[in-house]
Amino acid sequence: MQIDQDTRVFGLIGYPLAHSLSPFIHNLAFKAMGVNAVYLPFPVKPGRVSSVVNGARALGIRGFNVTIPYKESIIPYLDRVSLEAEACGSVNTVLIEEDRAVGYNTDGRGFMDSLEQEGVKVPRLAIILGAGGAARAIGYQLAVRGSITVFLNRTPERAEKLARDIARITGQESWGKSWDSSCISDFVQDAELLINTTPVGMYPDIDQKPPFVLKNLNSRSVVADIIYNPLNTRLLREAEGLGLKTISGLGMFVNQGVRSWEMFTGREAPRKLMEDRLRGLLLKNET
Ligand code: ATR
Repeated sequence: MQIDQDTRVFGLIGYPLAHSLSPFIHNLAFKAMGVNAVYLPFPVKPGRVSSVVNGARALGIRGFNVTIPYKESIIPYLDRVSLEAEACGSVNTVLIEEDRAVGYNTDGRGFMDSLEQEGVKVPRLAIILGAGGAARAIGYQLAVRGSITVFLNRTPERAEKLARDIARITGQESWGKSWDSSCISDFVQDAELLINTTPVGMYPDIDQKPPFVLKNLNSRSVVADIIYNPLNTRLLREAEGLGLKTISGLGMFVNQGVRSWEMFTGREAPRKLMEDRLRGLLLKNET
């Protein structure tokens, strides 16, 4: 790749950033599509987030992604956030156009894209394990499409608050409970989709799974995980063993990246290439 005065710079802010795969998929797509741009990891030390937007403006950086721990704390430094980012209270993509910095959140739509790609219809009732930022982004997208959402979480107060917020913002029915609550069996029976948004089962703790009894789901339920390392989490392996359809977190990760890449470049991203190459890399790391 030739770097010259026209090379546009994009990147990812977060801390720490050691294992992020975003630079891999973004740079691969720039190269494949002949876009004169680079995507760099910017590990921003705690306490420095207040300088990021002005720094990017000064350097002519036209866009960047945001990851843990800055998805919420970046918001006060932006000129505007999209409706969706506002509802989620978190931003994963920032675009700077004519000096105005606007925040978006592509996580929830990235998940919805992967449901569609897998031929899964918007569920009537979805159970979401977890009540953090990813649960909120996915829950919001499901609710605006008409799903009833049930958040089950280790800390029930967080799930209750998230359900109240989702119901208020979208007008859809939403519930929040402890994940070992005894009064969830009706929800479990009716759930068409179960999604794990917690890090339980993620590398290196690959033998763990959320304490949810899959065999109580009905046989038409789909089980999704947003973890993509490993590709096949213990939760998904158990679901497969019960004959349930499963969806790994790879699609959501690629799709949120595709949406950001398209916002950065104004072009269609080579989604299949990005997904295939990332799957190849993850499978190589697993062996
Ligand atoms: P993100 O923004 O990536 O969703 P987060 O806001 O830190 O991350 O939320 C992580 C979610 O995973 C939370 O629901 C958290 O549960 P608590 O609200 O009880 O903290 C859940 N979580 C994280 N580690 C967990 C663990 N070891 N066991 C169970 N739940 C866990």
